[in-house]
Amino acid sequence: MRNLTNILITGGAGFIGSNLVRHIFEKTDFTGRIVNLDVLTYAGNPYSLSDIDKQYGGSRYFFEKADIRNRAAVDAILVKYKIDTVIHLAAESHVDRSITGPEEFITTNINGTFTLLEALRSFWTDFDGKLFHHVSTDEVYGSLGNEGFFTEDTPYDPRSPYSAAKSASDHLVRAYFHTYGLPITLSNCSNNYGPYQFPEKLIPVMIEKMLDEKPLPVYGDGKNIRDWLYVEDHNSAVWTIINDGETGRSYNIGGENEWENIKLVHSLCEIVAKERGKEADYYKKLITYVKDRPGHDRRYAIDCSRMKKELGWKQAFDFEGGLLLTVKWYLENRKWIDTVKSGEYLNWMEKNYDER
Ligand code: NAD
Ligand code: TYD
Repeated sequence: MRNLTNILITGGAGFIGSNLVRHIFEKTDFTGRIVNLDVLTYAGNPYSLSDIDKQYGGSRYFFEKADIRNRAAVDAILVKYKIDTVIHLAAESHVDRSITGPEEFITTNINGTFTLLEALRSFWTDFDGKLFHHVSTDEVYGSLGNEGFFTEDTPYDPRSPYSAAKSASDHLVRAYFHTYGLPITLSNCSNNYGPYQFPEKLIPVMIEKMLDEKPLPVYGDGKNIRDWLYVEDHNSAVWTIINDGETGRSYNIGGENEWENIKLVHSLCEIVAKERGKEADYYKKLITYVKDRPGHDRRYAIDCSRMKKELGWKQAFDFEGGLLLTVKWYLENRKWIDTVKSGEYLNWMEKNYDER
C-alpha cells in the first residue's frame, strides 16, 4: 500500500476523471488532497464536480484551470501543492474528432504527456513514495478478428490518430521509467460508460437521440464489437493500481463484456422505452445505418487476468445493472446535459457528425 498525500489528477473535469475524483472522496479511505488540473476543453465541465467542490473545495479539493502543455503552469502547480502522486487522464479522447482534426490529439496527448513527465523529472528530486499513473486505452493494440484477446504483451498497432497519439504517450511513459527511473504505472482500459460521459460517445449519443426522437446513427454494419466497463469499475481498478501496482508495470482493465454495437443499441432502446413508458420497440425504428468510420477497428476484447490475479481486482457492476443506472442518470440529470450541450460541442456536431 503506497502512502498517498497530495494527488494531482489531470483531466479531472472530464468523464472518467470527474467520476474518479468522486470515487476517491466517496469510496476510499484516502485522507489527503486532490488537485484537479484541467484546461476545460469542450469535454471538460467543472459542473460535474460541483457537489464535491461544495463539500471539499479549499480544504481537500482544489481545481486549477491549466493546460498540460504549459510547462510553467504545470511546474507552479506541482510546487504549490507538493504533489507526490499524479493520475494522468487529460487527453483528447474521441476517435471521430481525431479523424476530422488530429492536431490537438498530437499536441495534448503526446506533447502534454511529455511536458508532465519532464516537469516531474525535475520536480521530484527523489522518487521515494512518488508515482505517475498513466491512464490509457486498449485501442493502442489495434483491432482483433473474431478470436483472441489483448494482453499486456500484445504488440502496439494503433489505427486512428487518437490511438496512435495514446500509443506514443504510453511509450514515453515507459521510456521515462527505463531511462530516468521515474516511478510509473500504466493501465489500458476498454470502453467505459456511465454518468457524466460527454454525449459524443456511443451510449450517451444514443440516449440523447432517443430523447430527441432523432435517427440513431449506427456506423457501418453495426457488427463492430467493444468490451464495455462501467466507469466506477475502471476507477476502482485505477485506485487499486495506484495503491498496490508494481512500479514500471502495465495493467489491462476490461469488462469481459463484449457487445456488437447493434445489439447494444437494441438493448438501450428497450431500456429507454421501459423507463419512459413506451412499448419495447418504440425507439428501434429510429436506428439508421450510416457511413462507416474510416479505419473503424472491428473488435476490442481485453484479457484482464493480470489485474485479477496480481492485484485481486474484479468488476462489481454487471452490464444490465450498469446500463440501467446510466440511462436513469441521463434521464434525471437534464441540467448537466444542457450545460455540456450549450458549448462548442453543438457546432462541431452540426459540422462533422449530423450530416453522416
Ligand atoms: P474526456 O474527453 O471526457 O475528458 C478529457 C478531459 O481532459 C477533459 O476534461 C478536458 O478538458 C481535459 N483536457 C483535454 N486537453 C487538455 C489539456 N491540454 N490540458 C489539460 N486538460 C485537458 O475523456 P475521458 O473519456 O474521461 O478519458 C480520460 C482518459 O481515459 C483519456 O486519457 C482516455 O484516453 C482514457 N480512456 C478513456 C476510455 C473511454 O472509454 N472513455 C477508455 C480507456 C481510456
Ligand atoms: P465510441 O463510443 O466512439 O468509442 P470508441 O470508438 O473509442 O470505441 O464508439 C463505440 C462504437 O460505436 C464504435 O464501434 C463506433 C460506434 N458508434 C456508432 O455506431 N455510432 C455512433 O454514433 C458512435 C458515436 C459510435
